[in-house]
Formats: sequence, C-alpha cells, structure tokens
Amino acid sequence: MQRDRVILDNLSTGIMALDGQLQVVALNAAGQAMLEASEARCLGQHAGKLVLQPGQWLDNLEQALASNTPHASRSIPLMLLSGQEIHVDLIITPVNDPEDSFCLLVELLPVDRLLRISRDASLMHSQETTRAVIRGLAHEIKNPLGGVRGAAQLLARELPEDGLAEYTTIIIREADRLRDLVDRLLGPNQQLQKEQLNIHAVLEQVRELITAESGNLVRVDRDYDPSLPEISADQSQLVQAVLNVMRNALQAAESPARCRITLRTRSQRQFTIGTKRHRLVCRIDIIDNGPGIPADLLPSIFAPMVTGRADGTGLGLSIAQSVVNRHGGVMTCESEPGDTRFSIYLPLDSDNAKAP
Ligand SMILES: Nc1ncnc2c1ncn2[C@@H]1O[C@H](COP(=O)(O)OP(=O)(O)OP(=O)(O)O)[C@@H](O)[C@H]1O
Ligand SMILES: [Mg+2]
Repeated sequence: MQRDRVILDNLSTGIMALDGQLQVVALNAAGQAMLEASEARCLGQHAGKLVLQPGQWLDNLEQALASNTPHASRSIPLMLLSGQEIHVDLIITPVNDPEDSFCLLVELLPVDRLLRISRDASLMHSQETTRAVIRGLAHEIKNPLGGVRGAAQLLARELPEDGLAEYTTIIIREADRLRDLVDRLLGPNQQLQKEQLNIHAVLEQVRELITAESGNLVRVDRDYDPSLPEISADQSQLVQAVLNVMRNALQAAESPARCRITLRTRSQRQFTIGTKRHRLVCRIDIIDNGPGIPADLLPSIFAPMVTGRADGTGLGLSIAQSVVNRHGGVMTCESEPGDTRFSIYLPLDSDNAKAP
C-alpha cells in the first residue's frame, strides 16, 4: 500500500479518486500541485468545490458516473480557487472497486505545463546557441584587439612628437572599451561560489539597493513564503541577476515615485525546467506596474544587445538569464501594460532531478 502511494506521488500526472457522491477519496502529489491544494484539504470535499466555475468539469464527471463509461476530454479550462486558470486534458475512468470506496478515477494532464516545458526548453536552447556564438566571436575579437592595443602602446613610445600621442591614446582607450563590451557580452564567467542561503536574504539585499538607487521613492511590496528551504547558490551573482531585472522596472517607470514592484516567492512541486523534472523548485516573481515591454521586443528580450532604451546596452536581462541558467534554473517573462512579470525558477533539489 505504502509503495503504491510512493508510485502515485511520483507520477507527473494528477490522479484523483472520487466516490459515488463525487467526493474526493485520494489526490496524488501532482494533482495537489495542479489544483494548488493539499490532499488533507481536499479529502471529503465535493469535486465541484475544488475549482471556481465548475460547470464543464462537473458535467464531465457526472456524465462518466451516470453512463459508467470512460470519458476523455481535451483542454478543459479549470479556474483554480486562487483565480488562476489552467487547462487540462481529462481522462475519467469508472472503477468497480470491490470495497466500494471509490467510483471514479480522474487523470489530469496539464496542457499548459507541456506547452511551457517546450517553450522554456526552446528558450534555454536559443540562449545556449547565442552564448556559443558570442564565445566564438569574443575569441576572434579579443586576440587581434590585444595585438592592436600592444602595437599602439609601442607606437606611443616611438612617437617623435607629443602631439601625436593623442591618436594612440584614442586607439588604446577604444580598444579597452571594446574589450570591456566583449567581456560584458560573455557574462559573468567566474566559478559559482555556492553556499547555503536564504533566497529572501538575496531579495532583501536587492530591495535595499534599488530603494537607495531610487532615492527612497520606489515602493517594493513583499509577499514571501517563509517556509522555503535554503538554496545552494552564489549570493552575489543572484543579487546581480535580480538587480538587473528590478533596475529595468525602475527605468521603465514614468517616475520612481509611481514605480511599484512586488517581490513574491513560492515553492512549486514536480516542476520541469528545461529537460529536468524537479521535486521542488523555488519561484521568484518580480512584478512591476510600469508601461510593459513592447510586443515586438518581448520574444527576444533575453537575447544580448536587445534594448528599448536609447542608452541601454541590452545586456542586463541576458546576464540575468545566464546567471539563473548556471544555477540550473530558468527565467521567463510575461508583460502587458501595468503588469510585467519576470519569474525566476530555481531548483531546490538539483541532485534529485529526473527526466520530465
Ligand atoms: N520591467 C520592464 N518594463 C518595461 N520594459 C522593460 C522591462 N524590463 C526590460 N524592459 C525592456 O527590455 C529591454 C532590455 O532590457 P535589458 O536589461 O536586457 O537591457 P537594457 O536595460 O536596455 O540595458 P542594460 O541593462 O544592459 O543597461 C529594455 O531596454 C527595456 O526596453
Ligand atoms: Mg537593463
């Protein structure tokens, strides 16, 4: 029995058992994660109470129960009690249980999750490709650049007139500028200095920095999940990543005083990042009320040198994404005017990752 339960809880499909009155008899871990409710809270509850606007969901269940035949539907919308809408493929199987404890077995397959997994995987893949191109290009630029700079230094020493030194100074200065740009393009390349840390300590540090930067004008609201376990991560690199995201929000705002940022943390079970499924991940949402990201920019927002600001280098988000990726995580973005949301997903169990 215990072993069956372990098997059930390790499935990535949500499984729910209902009795003849459509009351919940069992709900596995994936089902709890999907419905954002614990099994303890759901047991004995009528299926119609698990979601808001249960019409279509209940119709499917009642139909399968009444006809005593299996029933499958694709992409049923479910409005969770939190107000969030998810889409699931449903398979409902009537079961003739000899002990008569349950009558319906419901399989819930999250459609959004599969779509998101393939979208995140392609985002991570394109990031990797971009980084490979940049690494190659950086190598090709830095070698001759070193030569140009060295030759300019030698030339400066040989110059007959001091007035000509101005030209070699420009060559050296511009070569240095180009080298710095290439280094920024490459992103942080130091080894991660991982330590056990509380993710809220990172967020609080960034909150202080950004508040100071805005002259105490920006309002940062916090909605932290205090039960999040510690994470093994590089504090200063994560601070840099979150700061890049928050700084953008501040820069995009009409004025610092109108800028309102919400920092939210949550844990999420059975979550796939790229090609790895994790038992537990930490999600950090950074939400701002600014004008939003222009639609034409949104699909390539994490690519280097993509900027919507006249004085932007377009590297902030690319660096932030690369830091998160190096921690085994991914960052996504959704934006509409008044509601821009960056979500950082970081695994809390990097050693236990499985195939999705
Ligand atoms: N919260 C946000 N609201 C509105 N636009 C945003 C937001 N975050 C990013 N953007 C847009 O995305 C662009 C890219 O951001 P990114 O941080 O990568 O580069 P940047 O800010 O232009 O330059 P850098 O960060 O290198 O100084 C920004 O120029 C801006 O147009
Ligand atoms: Mg930026």
